[in-house]
Amino acid sequence: MSLKNVRLEVMQHLEKDVDALIQKYLIPVETIWQPTDFLPDSTKESFYEDVREIRELSKELPYDFWVVLVGDMITEEALPTYESWLMDVVGVDQVENNGWSKWVRQWTGEENRHGDVLNKYLYLSGRVNMKEIERTTQHLINDGFDIGTGRDPYKNFVYTSFQELATYISHNRVAKIAKQKGNKQLAKMCKIISGDEMRHHHAYSEFVERIFTVDPSQMMMAFYDMMKRKIAMPAHFLRESGESIGTAFEEFSNTAQRIGVYTSNDYVDILQKLLDRWEIDKITGLNDEAEKARDYLMKLPPRMYRLSERIKIPENSFQFKWVDPA
Ligand SMILES: [Fe+2]
Ligand SMILES: [Fe+2]
Repeated sequence: MSLKNVRLEVMQHLEKDVDALIQKYLIPVETIWQPTDFLPDSTKESFYEDVREIRELSKELPYDFWVVLVGDMITEEALPTYESWLMDVVGVDQVENNGWSKWVRQWTGEENRHGDVLNKYLYLSGRVNMKEIERTTQHLINDGFDIGTGRDPYKNFVYTSFQELATYISHNRVAKIAKQKGNKQLAKMCKIISGDEMRHHHAYSEFVERIFTVDPSQMMMAFYDMMKRKIAMPAHFLRESGESIGTAFEEFSNTAQRIGVYTSNDYVDILQKLLDRWEIDKITGLNDEAEKARDYLMKLPPRMYRLSERIKIPENSFQFKWVDPA
């Protein structure tokens, strides 16, 4: 049987448990938080005062902070790319309306609130150039992404396990900085987003765990392939208006690294967490090729920590069109 057919069989085998996994990891619409829970109520007279307070508190936060919040928001707003990508993965058949497509839709429904709440907050903050941000968002959706997973569910679930943890880290760090600067409301908002990301991380990690139990060698090879080519960030094609594809990404990630929201050390920490979580050292039943892949993976974190120590980040802020100088 071809590798692709085995993957389809494995996905169909796991599909019967997807309803239970939705119950375990996703929260019903009627009980989960909504963006309005963290934003001023525009039907109330107090709205004006609340907005004034947001604008006052916004002045306390530095330039790089706004760049990172904008970049994080744009990454969330490119959700159509991620949903359509996942819908095309082997075994996720939206035409047949199977369990996996239900998962993707409900995951998308939860994710959609992230860009929504951040967008409204940024609009009210008065600190950013919304039109430039909107242009970047439209560019990013137009440009799509290239994450090297193809339609392979194994590689895609490695990717999402990694990315959900990466977004957990960055939203959580943004929350900490906001709190330090006395902005409790923004801190609460980013903290609750990071909670969603952590749940999603656990869900995708469990999908991978289950695949390891039925197809260990191929799951190991998929993990190996993804780490060998490095995990690309979903916004790696980020650009500002009038610029060419991907040109804003490096400065955005430099900015995140400079203020400690997401660093090259975090990348290695995530890899180490995945190795621990999936107990890669204990997986049995591997063929020779997968044994070699495991060896490579186990040795990767110390190597990458050494490399990340040498990375130098420019000290000065990069001027983006999204945020006017303070
Ligand atoms: Fe998100
Ligand atoms: Fe997420």
